Amino acid sequence: GDSEGDSGGETYTVATDNNFVPFEFMNEETGEMEGFDIDLIKAIADEAGFNIEIESMKFDGVVAGMQSGRYDIGIAGMTITEERKETIDFSDPYYDAGLMLAVSADNDEIQSEDDLAGKKVGTRSGTTSETYIRENHPDAELITFPGIVEAYMDLESGRLDAVMYDVPNVQYYVANDSEGLKTAGDILQGEQYGIAFPKDSELVSDVNEALQTLIDNGTYDDIYEEWFGE
Ligand code: ARG
Repeated sequence: GDSEGDSGGETYTVATDNNFVPFEFMNEETGEMEGFDIDLIKAIADEAGFNIEIESMKFDGVVAGMQSGRYDIGIAGMTITEERKETIDFSDPYYDAGLMLAVSADNDEIQSEDDLAGKKVGTRSGTTSETYIRENHPDAELITFPGIVEAYMDLESGRLDAVMYDVPNVQYYVANDSEGLKTAGDILQGEQYGIAFPKDSELVSDVNEALQTLIDNGTYDDIYEEWFGE
């Protein structure tokens, strides 16, 4: 990078989630975290000229870790919301997402969110899906889980009627990690992911500049292709 982007090799801590395919997850063979977010933050660090130390945790810990300033950077498929912006700073958006339903492959009863009344709907606590269900589907039976994989497993075993979560995660899980599930209906609410920072972090502009460079020079597309290409 140019000399402005060169911070002299500072090391920053990065908080990420421990299981959100395909953005961040543990490769059991290598023992390393991988995924779209991991590749993106590594490329941003290279471009901006700093080093990173990645630590994975529960999603709530990433949000709390930004609010307390315990970590320098958070990347965890975190949706930019007005509420979070009160306590957290965000980079420019780096990924267009949204919410979607998964149901059992043999379920014809739930075709869309209009069919959720009286149904057991699972999601992960502390996420935009939880807020969405509370606000839009008070007549559904909301069940929250500390991790989304537990919700998917309860859907697979028939203890839940549907799971609502982020489109890329639902689609990836249905296609790669599960048998007997399908998506139902359309995208429910458009959302954008941002890289998170403690309020008033000086890193925001450096990260935005590096992100834009990676978009302009094709690196972003290469990473996208790797995780979302056919
Ligand atoms: N995008 C949703 C949110 O920000 C869910 C994010 C979940 N991310 C994760 N790494 N588990 O609330």
